[in-house]
Amino acid sequence: MSKKYHIVTYGCQMNVHESEKIAGILRRMGYEETKEKEDSDIIVFNTCCIRENAENHAFGNIGALKKLKKQKPDLLIAVGGCMTQEKGKTDVLKKKFPFIDIMFGTLNLEELERLIIKKRQQKKKVIEIREKEGEIVEFPDPYRTSYPNAWVNIMYGCNNFCSYCIVPYVRGRERSRKPENIINEVKKLVAEGYKEITLLGQNVNSYGLDNTTGMTFAELLESVASIEGKFRVRFMTSHPKDFNEDVVKVMEKYPKICRLVHLPVQSGSNSILQAMNRRYTREKYFGEIEMLKSRLPKAEVTTDIIVGFPEETEEDYLQTEDLVKKVDFASAFTFVYSPRQGTKAAEMENQISEDVQKDRIMRLVELVNSLTRAKSEKYVGKIVEILCEDYDEKKGLYLGRDEFGRMGYFKCDHNAVGEFVLLKITRANGISLFGELQDDSRL
Ligand code: SAH
Ligand code: SF4
Ligand code: F3S
Repeated sequence: MSKKYHIVTYGCQMNVHESEKIAGILRRMGYEETKEKEDSDIIVFNTCCIRENAENHAFGNIGALKKLKKQKPDLLIAVGGCMTQEKGKTDVLKKKFPFIDIMFGTLNLEELERLIIKKRQQKKKVIEIREKEGEIVEFPDPYRTSYPNAWVNIMYGCNNFCSYCIVPYVRGRERSRKPENIINEVKKLVAEGYKEITLLGQNVNSYGLDNTTGMTFAELLESVASIEGKFRVRFMTSHPKDFNEDVVKVMEKYPKICRLVHLPVQSGSNSILQAMNRRYTREKYFGEIEMLKSRLPKAEVTTDIIVGFPEETEEDYLQTEDLVKKVDFASAFTFVYSPRQGTKAAEMENQISEDVQKDRIMRLVELVNSLTRAKSEKYVGKIVEILCEDYDEKKGLYLGRDEFGRMGYFKCDHNAVGEFVLLKITRANGISLFGELQDDSRL
């Protein structure tokens, strides 16, 4: 009987895709997937440390395995991802959870097979974290779990050191993947039937700026979008300090690039943006939205916002509300600032009290929800193209997204996953849309 693996993933799309790479390694070693932890021979936690609650979540889930590990001493427990890469965190993990067998980092993911083999040969736990990024390693066989979407890394790491953010410390400096490797991967995915390609990087607009690729992001995007076939192209994340018209011109030329830009603003106040080391102003941000909409009037923007950053006054917060109203985002991810050890912001004076943070996040969520609800209402009566992603057992409905990321549910008498369909939207509920399949709408 073959051995079984179970992977628990926290954090962003980057991590979701890295779990697919981990799954690829484990399958090559002969493991098969199981949904049940109790059935597993190896459980891998792919962790995130972007905010304290992401870490607590992982701590809780790892801690819960103590009993299982006692009952099943041969079960291997491996912890990787951004948390293990944090300075001093492996010691914390070792102390808290002495039953962990293997720890690896984001910078030596490809070594997992060797670490597992090493662990099988010794009683002692195996902890190997690489401190500095090496050359980019190509993964031949990620085991993809997000059909019809496929995640494709275009770069790794981050050079921006936003003052609140731990990512540059746990992901290393920016490295751009070679264009031919990216383009060949996308061609292969399209040939295999993937219908949506999402190009991934912490700041895609700085692709190639490390001078190793001979291509800018706009040029890369064009090369990807000019691959034959019916599929969508998405990219994330764009950084407002580097987002530019060249990218929008490429979007204009290729309808298969979704008219959606994820452009995290973080704050609407110039003094907070400066303290965050974001290197743009609200005026520059407005200018970019205007440029985008003047070329692509139907384009939508999504964003990330942090409230309760050190020194944030009520006035600063209201500037954020004002920006949110003016930009009219398709959706916004909102976060309470969480101090991360080792970052500049964690050392700043005037950290904001929890009460004030809570109050601001509640007001902001309310505002964002009302705007996104209003946007959903506008869909009613319209016909939209949806890429069907999944079947919701509870609702008994298929679901998918339009190019702006809006979720649409519909009834269908055959398995529509992976098909582009036309829906007439009949009802909106919060951010979800419900629609009727149009006759002969399969595209
Ligand atoms: N590279 C992307 C986002 C990476 S992290 C960018 O530059 O926008 C995703 C989001 O998490 C960020 O956009 C930010 O809004 C949020 N985030 C990062 N660090 C945080 C912290 N310490 N506290 C709260 N939110 C944080
Ligand atoms: Fe973090 Fe800023 Fe880099 Fe994004 S750009 S990952 S927020 S440091
Ligand atoms: Fe992503 Fe979390 Fe790491 S957001 S890059 S998994 S710290």
